[in-house]
Amino acid sequence: MMKAFTGAALVLAASLFASAQPASVSFDAGAKTFRLDGGATTYVFGVNPRGELQQLYWGGRLAASDAFPQAAPMPEWASFDSSTTTTPQEYAGWGAGLFVEPALKVSFADGNRDLVLHYQSHTVTANAFDVLLKDIDRPLYVTLHYAIDPDTGILARSATIENRGKEPLTIEQAAAAAWALPPAHYTLNYLTGRWAGEWSLTQEKLDPGARVIESRRGSTGHQANPWFAIQAGSHDENHGEVWFGALAWSGSWRITVEQDQLDEVRVTGGFNPFDFGSVLHPGQSLETPVFYGGYAQNGLGGASRLLHRFELAHILPRTQATASQPLPKPRPVIYNSWEATEMNVTEPGQMALAEKAAALGVDRFVMDDGWFGQRKTDHAGLGDWYVNQEKFPHGLKPLIDKVHSLGMDFGLWVEPEMVNPDSDLYRAHPDWVLNFPGRPRSEQRTQLVLNLARPDVRAYVLGFLDKLLNENDIAFLKWDYNRNWSEPGWDQLPPAEQKQVYVEFTRNLYAILAELRQRHPKIEIESCSGGGGRVDLGILRYTDEVWPSDNTDPFDRLTQQDGFTYAYAPQIMMAWVTDSPHWLNHRATSLSYRMLSAMQGSLGIGANISRWSDEDTATARRLIAAYHQVQPTIVQGDLYRLISPRDGSEFSATQSVSRDRSQSVVFAFIHSTQKGRLFPTLKLQGLDPAAQYALTPIEGKLRPGSPALASGAWWMNHGLNTDPDFRGDFQAAAFRLDRK
Ligand code: GLA
Repeated sequence: MMKAFTGAALVLAASLFASAQPASVSFDAGAKTFRLDGGATTYVFGVNPRGELQQLYWGGRLAASDAFPQAAPMPEWASFDSSTTTTPQEYAGWGAGLFVEPALKVSFADGNRDLVLHYQSHTVTANAFDVLLKDIDRPLYVTLHYAIDPDTGILARSATIENRGKEPLTIEQAAAAAWALPPAHYTLNYLTGRWAGEWSLTQEKLDPGARVIESRRGSTGHQANPWFAIQAGSHDENHGEVWFGALAWSGSWRITVEQDQLDEVRVTGGFNPFDFGSVLHPGQSLETPVFYGGYAQNGLGGASRLLHRFELAHILPRTQATASQPLPKPRPVIYNSWEATEMNVTEPGQMALAEKAAALGVDRFVMDDGWFGQRKTDHAGLGDWYVNQEKFPHGLKPLIDKVHSLGMDFGLWVEPEMVNPDSDLYRAHPDWVLNFPGRPRSEQRTQLVLNLARPDVRAYVLGFLDKLLNENDIAFLKWDYNRNWSEPGWDQLPPAEQKQVYVEFTRNLYAILAELRQRHPKIEIESCSGGGGRVDLGILRYTDEVWPSDNTDPFDRLTQQDGFTYAYAPQIMMAWVTDSPHWLNHRATSLSYRMLSAMQGSLGIGANISRWSDEDTATARRLIAAYHQVQPTIVQGDLYRLISPRDGSEFSATQSVSRDRSQSVVFAFIHSTQKGRLFPTLKLQGLDPAAQYALTPIEGKLRPGSPALASGAWWMNHGLNTDPDFRGDFQAAAFRLDRK
């Protein structure tokens, strides 16, 4: 039996082939080198005389005529530094004196744990290589998959590990890929946080030793995100070489960034080896997640623009994309009821909110938690996905019809992988949750995690979601996941195999999402996990957007959005306008400031709009209309960070430029003006210097005497000056530029 993994590398390779601009992949049979060229990047590896696969180059694109000699292993540096360990292998098995992080660690049935992988053969397709490795003795095979995107030069790497022997074996550690960088001074960038405080860009000098970025929680996690960027020298937004990567996995994951004793840097990422164990019976195989990696020469800004393009073109579902609009369509402007009503949802209450939302120009009305089972508080109801008769005596249809009659589509909150002990589901199936029999079951938010790895649980979850979508005209699901794992037992399997829950749970999650999308091709889905707890390139193959944080404070969001966009495109980033003073920080801000902060991503309204004044309604209506006009530029264009909001910056500013450079949108924010300081001149980027651009304020004014029409060269070299009155606390301005 093959443990087939739905699609990862194959899906990517197929979507890359569809790309217009040719990439090139080539194998030099004499030197035994493999070369992939795409965008402005070249990646080269080869077979060294020992038979190991060794990385040779990852950087700026080389001339087609440039050839590499056969890979030569590092010499033994000292008797303590074996050549095996200092040679940068593409995918090192743990064996033969390897002291750095292995890509693969295996225990064989006879107790042997030594694994040495040597090249066997390869196949080449349009933009991809499959390279087969085998242990020097045992019938343990690994196929390394490589594909390169012709446009961005971003590589996709993964591995399939196969037991062709006659005895079972246990995989204790399996990476998707290992990346190597030559010795230099580097700064490591990664994203850290906590609930309501996700997306801090953490930056540190790389020193000898290992920096481990990981989740042991069963899902991606708020605390760290599976993305890294390593910059030569120190942090620079616009200049310098950057190597970056993102792991497409929504279960426990680990990325180890290691500077070895010879100052070489390796980045190894994949399944988190902590508590990991995957038993492969004869004939079985394990497919790792995909680890994407890219290279840019123009700083962290350049790296994130490449990644955004790649995500839009190759990761996000494109079910409704067409030849003329090949990218996923920009997100509808939503209204969400959560902060207005929490779980006190009722038919008349939601209808009243829907009327208000429609008057603002909202496209989609989303009812959040509280509509199902015996859900009054978070103590009950999860698992019972029938409509609560007290709150909705006639089912959801009257509300959905009302929402449609107001010109919006309808979305609904679900949390499919969870159960409250106080639910019919749990009373009927107490064995369905993750647990170790006879041990306590730790509750968080009074809920337990269903063991989605179980086939019966998978069938139940798919079944109720399918029924919900069959019986109701639902355009969108907000798919929530409000706790992490505890006691991750799976007692249906023999003890030695129970750790497979880490792989099977996530695989089944992806399978359910894929099946649901296949059966309901128009459905759109948001990945939410108490905010940004499940955001990664794995889940984003099946979901259209994410909820980055439960923190909707518009000032906090500026730094969160700044961090988020280092790894993910603004299109993916939902951003709601909520009430002031904000519930978290008790900070009061104007509606205009809140709107402009949220307009940097995919806009939503999450406030209690039934309490809004006519003036508030008019402001929101005006800005939603302005947003609709420029939304594709903001969410799908090239993002330039003009002034960072990090480190308590007094000011911040971003600029987005449409791909064809015909439009640009500038956002400017003041934290608190000090000593009467004027907002700095904003020198724009990415415009066509020879074209004329007309500037129109969306909110705020230019300095008196500033031209309303000037060349791209003017806006980039002379820059844009805001009105001297643009001062104060929590102030915001926005401008659009249109090519004439
Ligand atoms: C999580 C989500 C919120 C909301 C609540 C509902 O915390 O992040 O947006 O949906 O659950 O219980």
